Amino acid sequence: MHQTANTLSKNIRAKSVAVLNRHLAASIDLHAQVKQAHWNVRGPTFIAIHELFDKVADAVEEYSDTIAERAGALGGAAEGTIQIAVEHSFLHRYKLGIDAAEAHVAGVTAALATFGESLRNAIDETAAFGDADTSDVFTEISRGVDQQLWLVESHRQP
Ligand SMILES: [Fe+2]
Repeated sequence: MHQTANTLSKNIRAKSVAVLNRHLAASIDLHAQVKQAHWNVRGPTFIAIHELFDKVADAVEEYSDTIAERAGALGGAAEGTIQIAVEHSFLHRYKLGIDAAEAHVAGVTAALATFGESLRNAIDETAAFGDADTSDVFTEISRGVDQQLWLVESHRQP
């Protein structure tokens, strides 16, 4: 941990940095998964879904940035390489060899839902050990992920 004039205790800051890095790994993985869907989706609804996935990927990239910079603000180091993301991401592997829009919509829906669930746990976890601001960062991202999830899953057959 770096020196900082932030008066939050080092113990709390270190705990938050660990939770942040776990979610940084997952968000980097999620970004790549959504890009995988963006590149490979096919079907009559191609352009709508292809463009939607690109917007979702952009939003997820912003979440990575917010998470990583919160770790930095707490005096921690962001661990945001692809290699670390592969080791630490808690998302399921994205299926290869799929092309139908329904399959990619289902895959991205599942990945967003898994990430969202963990974010909600992180909101509670960081609040419980005394870092209300990191909890707020997770709340903001969780709200964003819920919106992305809505945009994606609304393409499923009702
Ligand atoms: Fe593209």
